[in-house]
Amino acid sequence: MARIIWGLATSHVPSIGAAMDNGKTADDYWKPLFDGYEPARRWMAEHTPDVAVVVYNDHANAVDLDQVPAFAIGTADRYPVADEGWGRRPVPPVTGAPELSEHLVRELIDDSFDITTYHRLDVDHGLTVPLSVYCPEPGQAWPCAVVPLLVNVIQYPQPTAARCLALGKALGRAIRSFPQDISVAVFGTGGMSHQLAGARAGLINTGFDRMFLDAIEHDPEKLAALTREDYIREAGTEGIELIMWLVMRGALSDTITRVHETYHVPASNTAAGLALFEDLGDREGAPA
Ligand code: DHB
Ligand code: FE
Repeated sequence: MARIIWGLATSHVPSIGAAMDNGKTADDYWKPLFDGYEPARRWMAEHTPDVAVVVYNDHANAVDLDQVPAFAIGTADRYPVADEGWGRRPVPPVTGAPELSEHLVRELIDDSFDITTYHRLDVDHGLTVPLSVYCPEPGQAWPCAVVPLLVNVIQYPQPTAARCLALGKALGRAIRSFPQDISVAVFGTGGMSHQLAGARAGLINTGFDRMFLDAIEHDPEKLAALTREDYIREAGTEGIELIMWLVMRGALSDTITRVHETYHVPASNTAAGLALFEDLGDREGAPA
């Protein structure tokens, strides 16, 4: 059976990818952020999953703003890197895991989550930047296959945080019921506090972010009880991306340990955070 070995929450700021693509990670501006990633990267390099389920949002690059599904899963065997207006990032295309995708879609629909499927999907910075945070030098290919799981965080009304946590719990059950003996990592991407436009553009709320970083480990139900308006008020119009961390957290078992955490302001307009959890519940012999 498939087992979940770790969960990674990370911001997906496009310029984090651009800093890597353009050799700027040692610059004064970027060095503290990338130094903060190092312990997590070392640990993940020693715990390579067969497949990563990456919970992310498209930013109107592959998904038309007129047709935004609340939740969707990619079922392709390959996902090209999106051209977001300045050329495709010089990173490998993403290899899919269609058998796992189709299993997840079926299980989640049977569990009352009506998932849209994408048979063709170009993946934007929401997915490729977290892969670069995980693996900075992929060479010709990323170290694992990927199942993209998309959440609408850009078109009002977004799914509630409670629904995202519930989806995560169903996702965890669905992954663990996949009959192949593979290891799976789950990524929750986006956040932390940021607002890119409007009167409050530039908003950062360190107090809220620190509370969230703690509660994502110890009290996800508290985060699930917040309304979408709470997220937008406290974390900004784009800070609501944080609800995707709850999908990741829901998929993990109750027995997790924090491997590493880092928080850095600013990365572009965003408070960048990373939290890495080992899932102990799926270890052989451990309670499910
Ligand atoms: C930025 C952050 C995001 O999450 C995003 O999707 C686009 C831009 C930023 O801070 O620049
Ligand atoms: Fe974003």
